[in-house]
Amino acid sequence: MAYETIIVEVEDHVAQITLNRPDALNALNDQLLGELVSALQEAQGNDKVRCIILTGSDKAFAAGADVKMMSDKTFVEMFSEDFFGAQHDAITRIRKPIIAAVSGYALGGGCELAMMCDFIIASDTAKFGQPEINLGIMAGLGGSQRLTRFIGKSKAMDMNLTGRFMDAEEAERAGLVSRVVPVKKLNEEARAAAAKITEKSMISVVAVKEAVNRSYETTLAEGLLFERRVFHSLFATEDQAEGMAAFKEKRQAQFRDK
Ligand code: HXC
Repeated sequence: MAYETIIVEVEDHVAQITLNRPDALNALNDQLLGELVSALQEAQGNDKVRCIILTGSDKAFAAGADVKMMSDKTFVEMFSEDFFGAQHDAITRIRKPIIAAVSGYALGGGCELAMMCDFIIASDTAKFGQPEINLGIMAGLGGSQRLTRFIGKSKAMDMNLTGRFMDAEEAERAGLVSRVVPVKKLNEEARAAAAKITEKSMISVVAVKEAVNRSYETTLAEGLLFERRVFHSLFATEDQAEGMAAFKEKRQAQFRDK
């Protein structure tokens, strides 16, 4: 499909989606989020795709929801259309792993979009923030919920109440991002991580994604039981037999997603 606000490239089993509204620092509007959801669903349905990378430009992953689009909206409009609710839910229903490769600004809805991905690799120039408070509003796509679970109450309150930006080093220390790399290496590092994932059994990959995400939805006891049962169930797969045989035979496993 032809897109105007994103670029999609599929290569080596990885779909790389680049947000591409440079004049607005990739601010999220209806068109961009609509195209992003379509591209993610296309990647989900494409058997060749085993991992997804979501990225922006060196200057901005995304500087938030499009303020110019939102500024004249009323409460009734925002509420009636459940502003960005459907897009949020669609993104979080993607079962394949999504790596966010973040450089520059990831603010407001941009930070929240990065947090909807499965993990974040940041460049050393990345800046995360929930500056909605400066606009007389607050976070609306996870900035008060996911961020709090990821980095704890004190830092989440700090970010949401003061609107300050967090640099990549602090974001890594706080657990928001999994690794920080020089900006010139960001794409290479994200692609290397994605390549590693593409070699695994997709059954394990999807099971891992479901189990880790479950930990945010349930009690520890229920989560541990869910994990154990899914773990048990993987012994019904050919990939388990292959993975363990390959280990014993000291060779690379050839997974077939069966
Ligand atoms: C619309 C935006 C934008 C945004 C930047 N631009 N962010 N347009 N919505 N969120 C536009 C600017 O208007 C400008 O266009 C161009 O991008 C370049 O931005 P500058 O401000 O000139 O760049 P710079 O001086 O480098 O400052 C970068 C910045 C600043 C610090 C990122 O742009 C900024 O503070 N942006 C807003 C960040 C923000 O408040 N995000 C939260 C939004 S609310 P022109 O045409 O003027 O040159 C949100 C809610 C989510 O995200 C919840 C949804 C449910």
